[in-house]
Amino acid sequence: MRAWSLPRPDSIDALALTERPDPRPGPGQVVVRMRAASLNFRDLAIATGKYMMSPIPPDLVPLSDGAGEVVECGPGVTRVAPGDRVAGIFMQGWLGGDIESEFGATALGGAIDGVLADYRVFDETGLVKIPGHVDFREAATLPCAAVTAWNALYGLKPLLPGQTVLVLGTGGVSIFALQFARAAGAQVIATSSSDAKLDRVRAMGAAHTINYHTTEDWAAEVRRLTEGRGADHVVEVGGPGTLQRSIASAKLGGIVTLIGVLTRGQIDPLPILGGGVTVRGVFVGSRAMFEDMNRAIMANGIRPVIDKVFPFEDAPAAYRHLKSATHVGKVVIDI
Ligand SMILES: NC(=O)c1ccc[n+]([C@@H]2O[C@H](COP(=O)([O-])OP(=O)(O)OC[C@H]3O[C@@H](n4cnc5c(N)ncnc54)[C@H](OP(=O)(O)O)[C@@H]3O)[C@@H](O)[C@H]2O)c1
Repeated sequence: MRAWSLPRPDSIDALALTERPDPRPGPGQVVVRMRAASLNFRDLAIATGKYMMSPIPPDLVPLSDGAGEVVECGPGVTRVAPGDRVAGIFMQGWLGGDIESEFGATALGGAIDGVLADYRVFDETGLVKIPGHVDFREAATLPCAAVTAWNALYGLKPLLPGQTVLVLGTGGVSIFALQFARAAGAQVIATSSSDAKLDRVRAMGAAHTINYHTTEDWAAEVRRLTEGRGADHVVEVGGPGTLQRSIASAKLGGIVTLIGVLTRGQIDPLPILGGGVTVRGVFVGSRAMFEDMNRAIMANGIRPVIDKVFPFEDAPAAYRHLKSATHVGKVVIDI
């Protein structure tokens, strides 16, 4: 089979297209013919040696997020059957409950081989069936970005209709958060560096938009737009450089979910205390969250937003497109 490989976490140029033996399933295992994969910001960090969450083994098959069809099952497999359309879960070991320290060592495309290959063997427990109305490209966007957005909005204090969700930027996680919030009957305020991207998110249902380059004090603008109340949930992908303003954007007792670290800065913790704000870190989510999310995606007919699709042979170009940050939503690779 063909598999992309990262000989060492160094640069996008190091990615190499290799041939490997076709995998066979052992007991409890399943071979999936991968049909599409998608990129996350994490994949750029891994390829360029900037990923801090786990060591990267040599000759890693990259990318955590992919979907395909089951082609062969090993002895004892009961959860799936040949022909089933499936996606791998981000941390193969996190099936439900709270996150545990050992789950990080089971993260696809980081601690262990990922999905940018013709075939991949999974333990049957590491798969979910994909919603019937989404195609393989769309399903390939779900395991990391969508589950993370779902965990942000439903993992601690579930979002309610009529509440306000602030999403930062227009990348993969934020666009899923927008879609889930709209499906829940919540109001969305979206920020971006680009007015053209803000036009796109208004068309997707954002009630209000703020250009964070031209409106530096976007927290004040969020408070103005919510008549002084603030946002119930803030989907915080910026990190230290935006967190202070995210906290200032939250309502009294609101939740700021810390997801990404795209910026640097210093934080004064006092407004967290004064506002009774919960600042909560999340690391993607469990299989149980993925399955809950899939039911919501089906019930609401949600279609993931795909910015651009690249052929398998041009995988490095997909990385460069993500790096350019010109995208809205997800960047996908056909397999
Ligand atoms: N904790 C987790 O489990 C988890 C899971 C997934 C992702 N993440 C992290 O979350 C972040 C986003 O991931 P992604 O895959 O959605 O990335 P992505 O698709 O590459 O999107 C990144 C977007 O962030 C926006 N952005 C950049 N700087 C910003 C700033 N100062 N203020 C507001 N927005 C800013 C930009 O939006 P505009 O172009 O519209 O300005 C950019 O397009 C990354 O740091 C990633 O590592 C964490």
